[in-house]
Amino acid sequence: MLQKLPSFPGIPGPVVVIVMDGYGVPKNDVGSAIAAAKKPTLDALFARYPHVLLRAHGTAVGMPSDEDMGNSEVGHNAIGAGQVYSQGAALVAGAIASGAIWQGAAWQQVVAGAKAGRGVLHFIGLFSDGNVHSHIDHLKAMVLRARDEGVKAVRIHALLDGRDVPETSALDYVEPFETFLAELQAGGFDARIASGGGRMTITMDRYDANWKMVEQGWHTHVLGRGEQFASASEAVRALREKHPGTIDQDLPAFVIGQDGQPVGTIEDGDAVVFYNFRGDRAIEITRAFEEGAAFDKFERVRVPQVTYAGMLQYDGDLKLPKRFLVDPPAIRDTMSEWLAKSGVAQFACSETQKFGHVTYFWNGNRSNKFDGETWEEVPSDVVPFEQRPWMKAAEITDAMIAAVESGQYRVLRCNYANGDMVGHSGHFRAATMSIEAVDLALSRLLPAIDAAGGVALITADHGNADEMFELDKKTKQPAQNADGSFKAKTAHTLNPVPLVLYDNVSGGRLGLKAIEGAGLSNIAATVANLIGFEKHAAWDASLLDVR
Ligand code: 3PG
Ligand code: CO
Repeated sequence: MLQKLPSFPGIPGPVVVIVMDGYGVPKNDVGSAIAAAKKPTLDALFARYPHVLLRAHGTAVGMPSDEDMGNSEVGHNAIGAGQVYSQGAALVAGAIASGAIWQGAAWQQVVAGAKAGRGVLHFIGLFSDGNVHSHIDHLKAMVLRARDEGVKAVRIHALLDGRDVPETSALDYVEPFETFLAELQAGGFDARIASGGGRMTITMDRYDANWKMVEQGWHTHVLGRGEQFASASEAVRALREKHPGTIDQDLPAFVIGQDGQPVGTIEDGDAVVFYNFRGDRAIEITRAFEEGAAFDKFERVRVPQVTYAGMLQYDGDLKLPKRFLVDPPAIRDTMSEWLAKSGVAQFACSETQKFGHVTYFWNGNRSNKFDGETWEEVPSDVVPFEQRPWMKAAEITDAMIAAVESGQYRVLRCNYANGDMVGHSGHFRAATMSIEAVDLALSRLLPAIDAAGGVALITADHGNADEMFELDKKTKQPAQNADGSFKAKTAHTLNPVPLVLYDNVSGGRLGLKAIEGAGLSNIAATVANLIGFEKHAAWDASLLDVR
């Protein structure tokens, strides 16, 4: 149990942590959909309530370097754990640098599995250096190692990004990689890209939102069914021409063929590495490979018997996948765990797209609830979110108001996905509306918190809607396409995020301390203090100032 604070009994009502996903604070407002939005509630919050900025990227959230943007996985991990752990991106890079990955049983089984069969090793994953789900350098290292260990052939199934990297950057990755593979090929090693497609079209669905995407991925990578092209770069060019204005993440699937035959179907006796390290969008395809006859999410047609490994274990509770190349971070002593041990009832809510973030990631990658926790998922629309920028903000708010009014919970949390999911579309106007939807939601939720004698901590996991245009590196003004239009930015930003203490109950007794270098991992201790508990020893400092 957490210790009681000696001098502060805690506020009378609940503490509500509100994560406005993708809401960063940019240095200037050029290209910020947040600045462009009409948001009277948020403006009043920043004008009248204590607030600080928190670091939400780079080493502050366990990424390898401060050049790395934040993301929802590492952000929610840091908020929920109150501590910073080295995350997948750093762990995999470290395991490759030290060579530990090649000594692990999983890699050795993958190589042995491929050799015992047809000699073919497949790599499926996100094909960029975004470092949110994967890094192309990890793929390169594995291809070279497979050659050195005598695997006969590798086949790569490349998911085009354009979401964690510039929106039409696919060829910046595909072309150099094709050159690299051609060199290997010339040296006698059979290495080719075999299939691919936009990451929001195939394979990388998450949280059971749209299994059709995974089915299409299966058809593409495993069965080799789909439109054929001679190379991945040719596919990207042809598909762009056929679907003008479609950005990489939404490009259709493609199969690489030769003489009408796919060059890299997945067959019995092959080995498969899914090389994304992040779990949310890796779980469904992993299930399709690992589950037996009881699998009922789609008709697999043919289920090759393969040696399958994930880069990491994507779900430690479900043991998914069984075989993985690098151990995931072992996150301990989370806020939810210690609040539960202290008898605090907790409520968590989001819509499908961010539900696992505010539950699984928040709780240190655990799929089971702690005692006294209630989770509520609002089903997301299955549409491109620029068509519904309000998403489920209203329904999440309904659920949160009901939970606050129930009086059953002392600590509540929710995630409004809007700024992030719509920010990723690159549509500026839709992104401004997404922020307006969150503002309206806050205008409803905050009075309910007042009525319950509670306070809110309003924050974000990382930036996104705060920069909707790629900025020219030199001028810091929006970069332009050849036709004069602005280059849309779909990725997260490196900007800090706000932390606002919405408090109408303490009579001005509570404030927030500005601590040098404070980040998302300082929130857990702040929550504990607000309800009258000391922080856990493992957590980073509280920002609460009790006067
Ligand atoms: C995605 O998976 O949608 C992006 O790569 C990262 O977005 P998130 O970290 O906000 O989920
Ligand atoms: Co995002």
